[in-house]
Amino acid sequence: MFKELWRQRAELIAADLERELRATKSLDENLLRAMEYSLLAGGKRLRPILLMAAADSVGVSGEKFIKVADALEMIHTYSLIHDDLPAMDNDDYRRGKLTNHKVFGEATAILAGDALLTLAFEVALRQKEVAPEILLEVLKEISTAAGVAGMVGGQAIDLHAEGVKIDFATLKLMHLGKTGALFRAAIRSGAILAGATAQKLESLTCYAENFGLAFQITDDILDVTGDEKILGKPTGSDAKNLKSTYVSLTSLDEAKKLAAATVEAALDALKNFGDEADFLRELVKYLVAREK
Ligand code: IPE
Ligand code: IPE
Ligand code: MG
Ligand code: MG
Ligand code: MG
Repeated sequence: MFKELWRQRAELIAADLERELRATKSLDENLLRAMEYSLLAGGKRLRPILLMAAADSVGVSGEKFIKVADALEMIHTYSLIHDDLPAMDNDDYRRGKLTNHKVFGEATAILAGDALLTLAFEVALRQKEVAPEILLEVLKEISTAAGVAGMVGGQAIDLHAEGVKIDFATLKLMHLGKTGALFRAAIRSGAILAGATAQKLESLTCYAENFGLAFQITDDILDVTGDEKILGKPTGSDAKNLKSTYVSLTSLDEAKKLAAATVEAALDALKNFGDEADFLRELVKYLVAREK
């Protein structure tokens, strides 16, 4: 049931992303092809799925909010294209395919990322059946999360932490930024769009922060233990770049224990929710056991 709903919604999201790209007028055909190459390459679609699941958990079907969900996936995909660039992690594979810059060249890959980031806000503004002030609040959440106080800020810490020993607090801050911020915004956006009470919003935010941490700790673990064919991206990338990760700062065992404890904290945050939050419960348990 959980996996089936995930699959169905991932298809729904992919179809809408494709529709949006088809409707986009670009001054340059090659740029649009580069955007499409990464956006429609698959991926778990976790951020839009989380937005929908958060809305479900407060009693409104999340599928209604597909345009804001699309926007999150566009921002995430832009971050992946840029993360793989030679100046950043310099990786050759992503989502089971050659990275964007390997196919289209660095300059076009940079522009494809820029274009996805801006298209995200254009598409989110097409969200119907939401009061303008609610949509504004959500777009503020998302833009702040994507920027210097969130994802981009976390990526900057990540780059400065290459080859140097950082403390645990900095590592956590980096993870909460580069990965956690977008997950947090996804869940908060779904909850706000669905009209969650302040108390439920607070609980879901706590779930989201732990979800993000557990997710990135697992991403660090998979960089060491994963199978490239299943992952669709290279393993050993963190070691190659002398990255500071949960595994490099502690050990594989410690990282696994931390991920498990973080999952418990995420589940605990949902203790006042009924079975309408079961998807969120299943998802956080699944993602630390995942292979991709
Ligand atoms: C990968 O994110 C980048 C990180 C934030 C660790 P995902 O694992 O969600 O990537 P896709 O979207 O499934 O490709
Ligand atoms: C990337 O973290 C986070 C963002 C793209 C914002 P990683 O560099 O660990 O992601 P992967 O392992 O390349 O997917
Ligand atoms: Mg990186
Ligand atoms: Mg990377
Ligand atoms: Mg990684």
